[in-house]
Amino acid sequence: MKILGIDIGGSAVKGAPVDTKTGRLLAERHRIATDKKLSPKEMAATLKQLADHFKWRGPIGVGFPGVIHGPVIATSANLHKCFCGCDAVKLFSAATGCRVALVNDADAAGLAEARFGAGRGVTGTVLLLTLGTGVGSALFCGGRLYQNSEMGHLPIRGKSAERFVSSAAKVRRGLSYKEWGKELRDYVHTLENILWPELIIIGGGVSKDHRKFFKHIKPRAKLVPAEFFNEAGIVGAALWAAERR
Ligand code: BGC
Repeated sequence: MKILGIDIGGSAVKGAPVDTKTGRLLAERHRIATDKKLSPKEMAATLKQLADHFKWRGPIGVGFPGVIHGPVIATSANLHKCFCGCDAVKLFSAATGCRVALVNDADAAGLAEARFGAGRGVTGTVLLLTLGTGVGSALFCGGRLYQNSEMGHLPIRGKSAERFVSSAAKVRRGLSYKEWGKELRDYVHTLENILWPELIIIGGGVSKDHRKFFKHIKPRAKLVPAEFFNEAGIVGAALWAAERR
């Protein structure tokens, strides 16, 4: 099945048609940079631009960085606040003229890794963390997704963990890989004491540098980098739409 996967992020909106049987992109991904926080209306226009780029008429899967309740976005920690309470399925379907399915961005990345990437075939508890502008999480047990796990908002020193351990926080706080790795170690150990995953997958752009910080984390679980790199969100959003038909 061919579905247009779209990944809404803090600095860009990316998309590509995906073959949901193989998890492969069917065309080169298209990226539209967003230099400010787009309002829901502006975001809908950007999604239309992406769909037009591929002359798309079929179903679309959209990953968004917030809690998703059916068609509605419930939270928006790092994007425009007007997304909170917004029926994005209605808005994005009207803008593109296509059927839209909506999913949390990290849940989407987790789906791609669970079905075709670093988590394929693993039946126990799998935790994926995406380290980017924020920290996203996807939690699987027996291959089933527990939606909206939001581990990036676990409180650390009275604030959301993502304020300390996202890759944006590493840059903002001027931390070396060693210093940041040690913060990540405490965070990951806390998550392990609660969830006891068998496998932890680290995604987000920074996962390409995993050799520089994995050695500081020292988890109980097996720790691996994501296999999809920056396509996981696109592929997973398309898989989500395919599984919803
Ligand atoms: C959001 C999550 C999202 C993560 C990564 C967090 O701030 O609350 O929903 O998955 O950022 O984008």
